[in-house]
Amino acid sequence: MSPWIFDLLAPVYNRFSHPWLVNPARIVPLLGLEGKEHILDVAGGTGAVAHAIVQASRAHLTVLDASQAMLNQVPSHSRLRTIHGPANSLPFPAESFDIVLCTDSLHQLDPQNIVLAAMRRVLKPGGRLVLVDFDPDGLAGPALSWGENLFKQGHRFLPRTELGPMLQEAGFTGRFAPFSLIQYAFIGTKAT
Ligand SMILES: C[S@@+](CC[C@H](N)C(=O)[O-])C[C@H]1O[C@@H](n2cnc3c(N)ncnc32)[C@H](O)[C@@H]1O
Repeated sequence: MSPWIFDLLAPVYNRFSHPWLVNPARIVPLLGLEGKEHILDVAGGTGAVAHAIVQASRAHLTVLDASQAMLNQVPSHSRLRTIHGPANSLPFPAESFDIVLCTDSLHQLDPQNIVLAAMRRVLKPGGRLVLVDFDPDGLAGPALSWGENLFKQGHRFLPRTELGPMLQEAGFTGRFAPFSLIQYAFIGTKAT
């Protein structure tokens, strides 16, 4: 959905999103954190996922989002910063991050292949990409296509068969893993 819709939803977003739509505690083990990794959470919204990560690790988190109202909800933490900006031209120098994360957002980032290329650019060599998004081939498939047509917001819920080649084209290798009954995860690495 457009960032202006999230501007309206921001004050109540956490109440209906976490842990129902995405469970922050389930993201942390996907990251395999070992030290003080620098992590970029693209379209990270209210920072619920980022906050769970800083609390569970020594990592440094940057939450980027196009909605300032969503970013205003991000909890304060010395290792958590926010950046207001678009996902398709990430405003960071190349090779800035050890991990790029994106949860429940890729379906609304347009164009998705350009966003993936921007994610690759800001990752360090060998850096990791962790995506979680709704699976149109999962239990929520019919509801997702209903929502795509109802809201007319240009959402594209990608099946694994489409996202896999797009990731490869963008320069990532990795694997899909089940995440929930309605979502998949992709855990990958910036290919050299
Ligand atoms: C469904 S929310 C998910 C937020 C967060 N990742 C989470 O898991 O709770 C989608 C977020 O994408 C943001 N968004 C939408 N289009 C964007 C764009 N082009 N660039 C950056 N953020 C965008 C919205 O403002 C919103 O905060």
